[in-house]
Amino acid sequence: MKLAQRMGRLGTETAFEVLARARALEAKGKTVIHLEIGEPDFDTPAHVIEAGTTALRSGYTHYSPSPGIGELRESIARFAGRKRGLTFSPEQVVVTPGGKPIMFFVILALAEEGDEVIYPNPGFPIYESMISFVGATPVPIPLREENAFRLDVDELARKITPRTRLVIINSPQNPTGSVLERSDVAGIAELAVRHDLVVLSDEIYSEILYDGEHVSIAQFPGMAERTIILDGFSKTYAMTGWRLGYGIMPLELAPHITRLVTNSVSCTATFVQRAGIAALEGPMDDVQGMVEEFRRRRQVIVDGLNAIPRLRCTMPRGAFYAFPYVGNVGMDCRAFADYLLNDAGVATLAGTSFGAFGEGYLRLSYANSVANLQMALDRIEHAVQKLR
Ligand SMILES: Cc1ncc(COP(=O)(O)O)c(C=O)c1O
Repeated sequence: MKLAQRMGRLGTETAFEVLARARALEAKGKTVIHLEIGEPDFDTPAHVIEAGTTALRSGYTHYSPSPGIGELRESIARFAGRKRGLTFSPEQVVVTPGGKPIMFFVILALAEEGDEVIYPNPGFPIYESMISFVGATPVPIPLREENAFRLDVDELARKITPRTRLVIINSPQNPTGSVLERSDVAGIAELAVRHDLVVLSDEIYSEILYDGEHVSIAQFPGMAERTIILDGFSKTYAMTGWRLGYGIMPLELAPHITRLVTNSVSCTATFVQRAGIAALEGPMDDVQGMVEEFRRRRQVIVDGLNAIPRLRCTMPRGAFYAFPYVGNVGMDCRAFADYLLNDAGVATLAGTSFGAFGEGYLRLSYANSVANLQMALDRIEHAVQKLR
């Protein structure tokens, strides 16, 4: 079948491919420790499951308005506003099946051929994929270990041209776990205002932060009218499979993103939206417990990686990923990730799955038990020793 040309520009997310390869190995009897998947290994909080099932039984099984049910949009506006010290109206909120469609729709709505979009590299692979897909030019901004994997604002300034339309930022960041400082965000905001740019701020990991504060670019002068916040329930409430996320955007953009929802998925599952209200309005104990457990595991994995000769790992400040440097093992990071999967039974992702500037690194998700993390570390150490 002849595909449309644009399909040649569409990328993918390697995590799903590595998961499939790991499952194939497991089907052959091999044990694999899964450090490739970007999802909390915790259960969705019980009160959220209860709200979802109650909603199903109560008839929330029909279409909802495309931008989401009013009560959920109100809860999101209130909760997200309180968290960031801002006031949002429910009309600024568009609910989607996961946060990912916000990326898809915002890039589709704002960028076109001839436009340049600046995005973090290494970064979530769908940014680059979507920018290319819509025919715009992806302009990577490298995140370097020597700058704690934060983007360098002076370098960003040099990347901006008259064709720059959109800047994508992500803090806490996937895959490096870096967190932008207030001064970084202030600098990015200042550039956005000066050059009349729109910012897509992916804040999906904002609750999974181990030290410091979450700073949203929407808080800075002149940014309310040019920021789209992407957030959702997948990571914070361990709800990846429910598919529930949202964008908070300038009022004038919301009807256009809503049209994209109408044209694609119509709406987000209605009973899932009811569960989302319970997540926002209910107790946060489970979320806090999950973050504390991630903090403990972060220490285990980072200490363990640093104890392995030839590897080193900086301490991530947010999300649940470690991003160790593996450039001294004698092969590129993709070959090393393949070697770890096939020979050691540890599934990880090559840094280059997140863009060219990820060469030399691996992404390890520590959304796994301490016992499994320790076993994975032993296996990795043994595998590295065998390379001598
Ligand atoms: C940086 C980042 N943004 C957005 C998402 C999208 O998550 P979801 O569509 O499950 O809400 C992910 C998921 O891995 C992510 O890592």
